Amino acid sequence: MATDPKGKSPAAKQAAGDASQPPPEPQARDARRDERIARLRDSLARARRVCVLTGAGVSAESGVPVYRGNEGLYQAFSAADMATPEGFARNPEKVWAWYIDRRRQLLEVKPNPGHAALARLEQLMAAQGRAFRLVTQNIDGLHQAAGSRDPVELHGNIWKTRCTECGTVSGQYGEIFEGLPRCARCKALCRPHIVWFGELLDPAVWQSAVRAACECDFLLSVGTSAAVQPAAGLIHMAAANGALVAEINLEETANTRWVDLSLLGKSGEILPRVVE
Ligand code: OAD
Repeated sequence: MATDPKGKSPAAKQAAGDASQPPPEPQARDARRDERIARLRDSLARARRVCVLTGAGVSAESGVPVYRGNEGLYQAFSAADMATPEGFARNPEKVWAWYIDRRRQLLEVKPNPGHAALARLEQLMAAQGRAFRLVTQNIDGLHQAAGSRDPVELHGNIWKTRCTECGTVSGQYGEIFEGLPRCARCKALCRPHIVWFGELLDPAVWQSAVRAACECDFLLSVGTSAAVQPAAGLIHMAAANGALVAEINLEETANTRWVDLSLLGKSGEILPRVVE
């Protein structure tokens, strides 16, 4: 996959945020950020079909840990043990204990202003007859808790289980159980309804996401390292189909240099300013 699908000139790359330049003074930085927020607001106001792709960073200000980086979950646990079908087959008790622990932690958190702003954007666009689709890599359900109606959950949902035999999906928010869950239909072992490393995304879910990315005229990527495929490929698909692409992230990503607009900062602070 090309890393610069828009073939940006050096000047455009600098406008998107050039890591080789010395950091600007705080005042100049704030003015630049204000100007970029205004540009993002304008672009959103003009867009007819918007797709928003979110990642763990959107939930970080709610207190949900991200995956990568120094504070990330992958520092504290082995993805090979907790996030692969092989790890689950080796030790389902250990994997379920970890997911139940994460469920308990999620019971303590609430959506933050970033989630709320995206739910509000969806409402505003619907009221104006414009298309909006939220595609998330997050499994925490916080977008729905904030009022987003039907996000495409690329990687599943931590509050759901799936039968390892018949595939029945069940479960609801807040459910905490002891031991291993069994399928109500066939009594076989259930697993978390989450896409693990080495697994394919649900084809219907992926199709919805591809459609949203390819049909939009504006894609906003928020709080994702864009390090995981195929989800990150949605950003490139949108760009290849002529959409404007913007990014909000605490730090630069592999996409920062080529996107049309990059805003560095917290999504819980920037999004409410964009969706006023
Ligand atoms: P990562 O942990 O890879 O990236 C989180 C991103 O959020 C980083 O780029 C941070 O800079 C950024 N970030 C942190 N706090 C932020 C804030 N307050 N505002 C804005 N940005 C912030 O998480 P994902 O990109 O979501 O898969 O990871 C993708 C997938 O990898 C996850 O869905 C997960 C994991 O394996 C599954 O669970 C199946």
